[in-house]
Amino acid sequence: MKFLSIRNLPVSLLAGTIAAIITMQTTSIAAPQSTTDTVIERSKILTQPGVFGVFTMFKLRPEWNKIPETERMDSAAEVAKLIEKHKDNVLVDLYLTRGLETNSDFFFRINAYDLAKAQTFMREFRSTTIGKNADIFDTLVGVTKPLNYITKAKSPELNASLGSATYAGDAPRYVIVIPVKKNAEWWNLSFEQRLKEMESHTVPTLPYLVNVKRKLYHATGLDDIDFITYFETNDLIAFNNLVISLASVPENKYHVRWGNPTTLGTILSPENVIKALAE
Ligand code: HEM
Repeated sequence: MKFLSIRNLPVSLLAGTIAAIITMQTTSIAAPQSTTDTVIERSKILTQPGVFGVFTMFKLRPEWNKIPETERMDSAAEVAKLIEKHKDNVLVDLYLTRGLETNSDFFFRINAYDLAKAQTFMREFRSTTIGKNADIFDTLVGVTKPLNYITKAKSPELNASLGSATYAGDAPRYVIVIPVKKNAEWWNLSFEQRLKEMESHTVPTLPYLVNVKRKLYHATGLDDIDFITYFETNDLIAFNNLVISLASVPENKYHVRWGNPTTLGTILSPENVIKALAE
C-alpha cells in the first residue's frame, strides 16, 4: 500500500490542506456553552431551542422484587434526592410504562442545556437501588431546534393557525414517545418540496392541538433516528385519530422507521412512579 508523505506534497497543496484543517477546526468546534449559572426552569427549558433530550427506557430485573418492600419504597426518596441534587443541571421527568409495555417498566426524559450533565445524572441513577436493579431497554438522544418549515416567513397562514390553538383538555395523564427516521429520498428533496410536504403534515393535525401537547427533538447524527416525537394527552382516542390522519399524508411514504418502539406510559411524579413499581 502506498502512503501519502507530507514531504511529497506540492507547497500550494500543503498550504491549502493546512488552511482547510484550521478552517475545519474553527468552524466545527463550537464554543462551549456556559453552564455555570444556568438555572433550570421547567417552562423555559421545555420551550427553548438547543436543549438536549435523553430518553432512557428501563426494565426492572426480577431481583428487584426480592428486595424487602421497605427498601424498595425507600428508593423513591433516594431518587427524589438525586433529582434535587441535579436540579440546577437537568430537568428530570419519569414515566410509568409497567402494565402498558412489554419491554419497559419506566422511562426517563432528561432535558439539559449540556448533554454531559444528562449523562452524569443517568450515570448516578444507575448507582441507586432501583437503578442497580434495572436494565436499559432503549436510549434516544436528540436536541430541540427552531421551526424549519412552518415559520412566519415560509408558511405564514399555517404558522398563525399553530399559534392560535392551545391545549384545552384536562391535565394530560398519558405520554407517548415515537422515534422517526426518514429515507435518503426525503433528504434529497428540495427545501420547497419538503416545505410542501410538511404543510400537508400540519393541516390535518391542527384540530388536535386542543387535545394533544407535542414536542420535537432532532436526532440526526446523534442517534440512528432523525426525530424523537413526544406527546402528552388525556384523550388517547383523539391521539389515535390524529395518527390515522397523518398516516395518509404523502410525507408518510418517506418514513423508514416509525415507532418501533412506540412507548406509551402514564404521567406521574418521579416519587409516585417508583412507589408504583415498589408495590
Ligand atoms: C397536534 C398534533 C401535531 C401537530 C400540530 C404537528 C405539527 C407539526 C409541525 C408544524 C411540524 C413542522 C415543524 C417545523 O416547521 O420544523 C411538524 C414536524 C414533525 N412532526 Fe408533527 N405535528 C403533530 C403531530 C405529529 C405526530 C402524531 C407525529 C408522529 C410521530 C408527528 C411527527 C412529526 C415529525 C417527525 C416532524 C419533523 C419532520 C421533519 O422535520 O422532517 N407530528 N409537526
